[in-house]
Amino acid sequence: MKILVTGGTGYIGSHTVVELQHAGFDVVIVDALFNSKEEVVDNIAKITGIRPEFEVFDLTDRAKTDDFFRRHQDLVGIIHFAAHKAVGDSVQHPIKYYRNNLDSLMNILEGMTTYGIPNLVFSSSCTVYGQADQLPVSESAPIKKAESPYGNTKQIAEEIISDTVHVNNIRAIALRYFNPIGAHDSGLIGELPNGVPDNLLPYITQTAYGIREQLKVFGDDYNTPDGTPIRDYIHVVDLAKAHVKAVQRMTDNTMKQAFEVFNLGTGNGYSVLEVIKAFERATGMTINYKIVGRREGDIEQIWADPSYSNAELGWKAERTLDEMVASAWKWEQHYRKE
Ligand code: NAD
Ligand code: WQD
Repeated sequence: MKILVTGGTGYIGSHTVVELQHAGFDVVIVDALFNSKEEVVDNIAKITGIRPEFEVFDLTDRAKTDDFFRRHQDLVGIIHFAAHKAVGDSVQHPIKYYRNNLDSLMNILEGMTTYGIPNLVFSSSCTVYGQADQLPVSESAPIKKAESPYGNTKQIAEEIISDTVHVNNIRAIALRYFNPIGAHDSGLIGELPNGVPDNLLPYITQTAYGIREQLKVFGDDYNTPDGTPIRDYIHVVDLAKAHVKAVQRMTDNTMKQAFEVFNLGTGNGYSVLEVIKAFERATGMTINYKIVGRREGDIEQIWADPSYSNAELGWKAERTLDEMVASAWKWEQHYRKE
C-alpha cells in the first residue's frame, strides 16, 4: 500500500516516513525543500534500509500536483504535512501562509476527488483551541478565534476538509498536535529550524551547543506553579506512530465518521523551567537562561486529553520528557558534526 507524504523531508514528516516504512507501507515523498534538505531522504534510507520515492515540487502548483496524481493513481492515502509553520512570520506575511497552506490543501483534495484517492490525514494543531477554558482539552472543546494567520490556516483547513468529505466520499482524519519535540533515536533525522529558532527545544539545544548565547524565558508571572507557561510536549516518534495508526484506521475501514479529529498529546503538562531542568538532568549541562517579558500571543497553559485517541486509535504516547530532550540533544550534536 502506497502513501503520499507531503512535507516528508520536514521534521514530523521524515519521522513519519520511517514509521510508515517500518509498518510495511511504500512511501512517496513530495517536498519543495522550502524548509528541509534533500539529504533527509538519504538518512531515512540509512535508518530503514529503504529509499522512499521522492519528488521535489511546490504543491501550490495546480498543474504539477495534478500531473503527480495522474502518475500515482495507486495511492491508498495521503498524509499532508506540507505547510509553512512559523507563527510570527505568518503575522508579517499572512498571504504567504494562506496561499501556501490552503492552496496546497485544495490541490490535494482536488486530486483525491479526480483520481479517486480515498484517505487523507491532515496535520492540524492544538493552536485551534487557543487558551482553552477547560484543561485538559478534549476534541470537543470550542475552537477559539485564531491568534495568528498560521493558526487560522489550520482552522480553515479543517473546515475545507469537513466540507469536502461530505461531497466527495473522501475520508479524512485531522490530527491536532500539541508540542512535538525530540528526534529519532539514531540521531540521523530531527528538527532543522531556519535561522534563529522560535520554538523552545531548538533554542535550548542551540544554546547548549554554543550557537546561541542565552535562552530567554518569556515570562515567569503566569498563573502556573512556577510562573512559566505549561505545554504538552510530545516525542516526535510517538507522534509519527500515531499517523500510522490513523492510516490503518482508514484502510481497515474502522472510522466512525467521514471526518474525524484526534488530539495528539501525552496528557502531561510541563512548564518552561521544567523542560530546562529536564534537559540539564538528561545531559549534565547547564543552560544559560534569563527571565524576560512575556512573548506576545503566548497562551498560559494547555495540555491534551488524549483519552479519545488512546481508545480509538489504539495509540498512546510512551516516551518521557527526559527521553525527548536527550534525543533532541543527540540530534543537535550529530547535525552540527555533519
Ligand atoms: P517542517 O517545516 O519541518 O516540514 C514541512 C515541510 O513541508 C518542509 O519540508 C517544507 O519544505 C514542505 N513544504 C511546505 N510548503 C510546501 C509546498 N507548498 N509544497 C511542497 N512542500 C512544501 O514542519 P513540521 O514541524 O514537520 O510540520 C509539519 C506539519 O505539522 C505542518 O503542517 C505544521 O503546520 C504542522 N504542525 C507542526 C507543529 C510543530 O510544532 N512542529 C505543531 C502542530 C502542527
Ligand atoms: C513553548 C514555550 C514559550 C522559546 C508553537 C505554535 C503552535 C505549535 C507549536 C504549530 C512557550 C517558551 C519559547 C524561547 C521561551 N506549532 N519559550 N523561550 O508557542 O507553545 O507553540 O509551536 O502548530 O501553533 O504557536 O511553542 O516552542 O514556541 O514555546 O520561553 O526562546 O516556551 O513562551 O511558553 P508554542 P514554543
